Amino acid sequence: MKKIVAIYPGSFDPVTFGHLDLIERGSKLFDELIVAIARNPEKGTALFELEERKEMLQAMTARWGNVSVDGFEGLLVNYVLSKNANVVLRGIRAVSDYEFELQMALMNRKLDKRVETIFMLPAEKYSYLSSRIVREIAHLGGPLGCFVPELVEQRLREKVKGSGGTKG
Ligand code: PNS
Repeated sequence: MKKIVAIYPGSFDPVTFGHLDLIERGSKLFDELIVAIARNPEKGTALFELEERKEMLQAMTARWGNVSVDGFEGLLVNYVLSKNANVVLRGIRAVSDYEFELQMALMNRKLDKRVETIFMLPAEKYSYLSSRIVREIAHLGGPLGCFVPELVEQRLREKVKGSGGTKG
């Protein structure tokens, strides 16, 4: 039977419980799951360096034997093919995600028709959660324990302290 290798791409700036929920679901469905962190220059400066994001993801996904973490630059489809992967995994939290995800999936298919995108739903309790909102809460000194693992919370606190972003 064909081995299914899936790539779960994203910015993961930083990884949240929503990402981890999807990674766990993906690890049960696919033979191998590669979490691929985009350097993402088009989004401007990320809060965490690629290596920092990778380190946090590696620590958080060590419990799943078929999950690995990697970084990539350039076109996602090229990265997918370089890994001999068959599938791109993306999460859809709400209808609002759908338009962008549809555009991205269809564009990736246009760029290379061998690349299939599979969407999965994270648990409803994470449907409001995003890295962007987590970063904002961290900058404003709000609680983070419900949204990210302890290690990520610590790194966020250190990061915003270093950038002088914490209020109060
Ligand atoms: O977590 P994000 O920011 O929603 O992830 C978006 C990401 C990194 C998956 C997307 O921007 C991407 O695939 N970037 C790589 C460059 C690329 O291939 N762009 C064309 C895709 S349509």
